[in-house]
Amino acid sequence: MSRVAYVNGTYQPHGQATIHVEDRGFQFADGVYEVWSVFDGRLADFDGHMSRLHRSLNELRIDIPMTAEALTRVLHETVRRNRVRNGIVYLQVTRGTARRDHPFPAAGTPPSVVVTAKSISAARSEATAAKGVAVITTPDIRWGRCDIKTVGLLPNVLAKQEARDRGAYEAWMVDEMGLVTEGASTNAWIVDEHGKLRTRDTQANILRGVTRAAILNLVAEEGIELDERAFSVDEAKRAKEAFFTAAGAFVMPAVSIDGVRIGDGKPGPITTRLRALYLDQARHEAI
Ligand SMILES: Cc1ncc(COP(=O)(O)O)c(C=O)c1O
Repeated sequence: MSRVAYVNGTYQPHGQATIHVEDRGFQFADGVYEVWSVFDGRLADFDGHMSRLHRSLNELRIDIPMTAEALTRVLHETVRRNRVRNGIVYLQVTRGTARRDHPFPAAGTPPSVVVTAKSISAARSEATAAKGVAVITTPDIRWGRCDIKTVGLLPNVLAKQEARDRGAYEAWMVDEMGLVTEGASTNAWIVDEHGKLRTRDTQANILRGVTRAAILNLVAEEGIELDERAFSVDEAKRAKEAFFTAAGAFVMPAVSIDGVRIGDGKPGPITTRLRALYLDQARHEAI
């Protein structure tokens, strides 16, 4: 099945879809992105991702490219044209195309907008989650505004490749205090040795995960004991359970960290329950 990409107002065959060589996303990583999970052709956590998009654009003073209604239509149409039932839809907005120069281009330069969608096998994702995955740790070498979802992801790319090179699925990044910040493309969680659910607070230099926020609501509803506080690599290695969250990954159990087995080496009960609750809710509320 041929894929289709939305690029600046038109739908194009994916293989031929292009942006200008002087697009500021290409030249400076001067852009932001969002990713929605797709369930049965509908988008999960819709408002959370849309409001974070607006926040990211606002923080970088990039113009909002179109109304939320128009953007919603483009997202749905891209999913439809790609016949995605389960998968993700990706949106990128950059500061547009202009002669290469560091300062912002002239006011009124239209932002560039790209939307793509791809299918992900729900069965494969379930099989991976049933076994759990390996995580490694690596120093967090990123800039000071990781709360903005920019396309400047080189440290994340290097961390993820290090994970692959070391036979793992995800890399957890670690600050100079030895505390886990977040995953290369996910938020990090543990059930600590005292049985408390832990995840780093968002006052820290991390992305405010939309999936993370949805899980926190479920945790409150379920009455699970939560301590929203950073944890060290040592605490993570002593944890009863570990997992990470993101659109696309949902709640993914981590069963080893740097080769150290977590709990009994299988996905733990709280992790498994949160994954089921999250999937149920996300599916129901997708639009
Ligand atoms: C660095 C980082 N942290 C966390 C997340 C999870 O965010 P969300 O749950 O909104 O997908 C992502 C997702 O791409 C990410 O790149």
